[in-house]
Amino acid sequence: MRVDIITIFPDYLSPLELSLVGKARRAGILDVHVHDLRSWATDRHRTVDDSPYGGGPGMVMRPDVWGAALDAVRALGPVGGSATLVIPTPSGRPFTQPRAQELSASPWLIIACGRYEGIDARVAAHYREVMPVIEFSVGDVVLAGGEAAALVMVEATARLLPGVLGNEASAPDDSFAPGRSGAALEGPVFTRPPVWRGLTVPDVLLSGDHGAVARWRNERSADRTRRMRPDLVGPGYPDDKVLPLAESEEW
Ligand code: ADE
Repeated sequence: MRVDIITIFPDYLSPLELSLVGKARRAGILDVHVHDLRSWATDRHRTVDDSPYGGGPGMVMRPDVWGAALDAVRALGPVGGSATLVIPTPSGRPFTQPRAQELSASPWLIIACGRYEGIDARVAAHYREVMPVIEFSVGDVVLAGGEAAALVMVEATARLLPGVLGNEASAPDDSFAPGRSGAALEGPVFTRPPVWRGLTVPDVLLSGDHGAVARWRNERSADRTRRMRPDLVGPGYPDDKVLPLAESEEW
C-alpha cells in the first residue's frame, strides 16, 4: 500500500518511522511519502491560508495551494492509479475499525492534513468528481490539525495489512473487530507473576481449561462493553449500570 501525506508539519509524521509502521515500511509492505504543503505556495512567505469568507475567527487553508499539491501528488502514482483522498476533520464521519479495514484494502491513500479552521470546502467537492474522498474524524474531540489523526489512521490501517502483525490471529480478536457484537471491547489480560502486590490472577486462567477460559473472557468482555460503552450494546441500556469514570472496578 502507498500512502502520501501532505502537511505543513512534515516532521510531525516522523513517528511513522518507528515501531510496527516503520517495520512495515522497511519490509516493503507500506510505502509512505510525506510532502510539505508549503512547497506548492507561490508567494515569498509561502502562505497557505487566508481569512474566512463571511467573517469569523481563525484562518482557512487556500484551495489553490491544496489543488496544486494534490494534482502533483496524484501524478506521482501509477498512471490510472486509484488513490483515495482522506481528509481528517472533526466534522467528518467516525473513523472506526471497519473503516480501517476498508482503507487497508486500498492500494493508495492520499491524506490531506488541514490546520487552522480547515481546508476550503471546494477542495473536497472538486476531488470528489475525480476520485473517492472520505472525511474522517478520529473522535469527538478537536485536535490542532489533521496530523495526529493521520498518525492514528495510518497505524490502524497498516497493522491490518497482510504480513504486518507478528501474530496474524490477533487482528480478529481486537476490540471492535467485526463479529464481537455485544462484546466489542477486549477484557482484562494478565501475565506472570501469579501474585503481584497481593493481587492474584483469576483462577480460571491458570486452570488449563480452554473452554472455561474462552467463556470467562467472553463474559468479561461483554461486561466491560456494557459498562464502558453502553452505546455499543444497543439503545435502552439502563444508564444506572454505567459506572462513573473514577469508580474502582473489578476486572
Ligand atoms: N482535526 C482536528 N480534530 C480532528 C479530529 N477529531 N479528527 C480528525 N481530524 C481532526
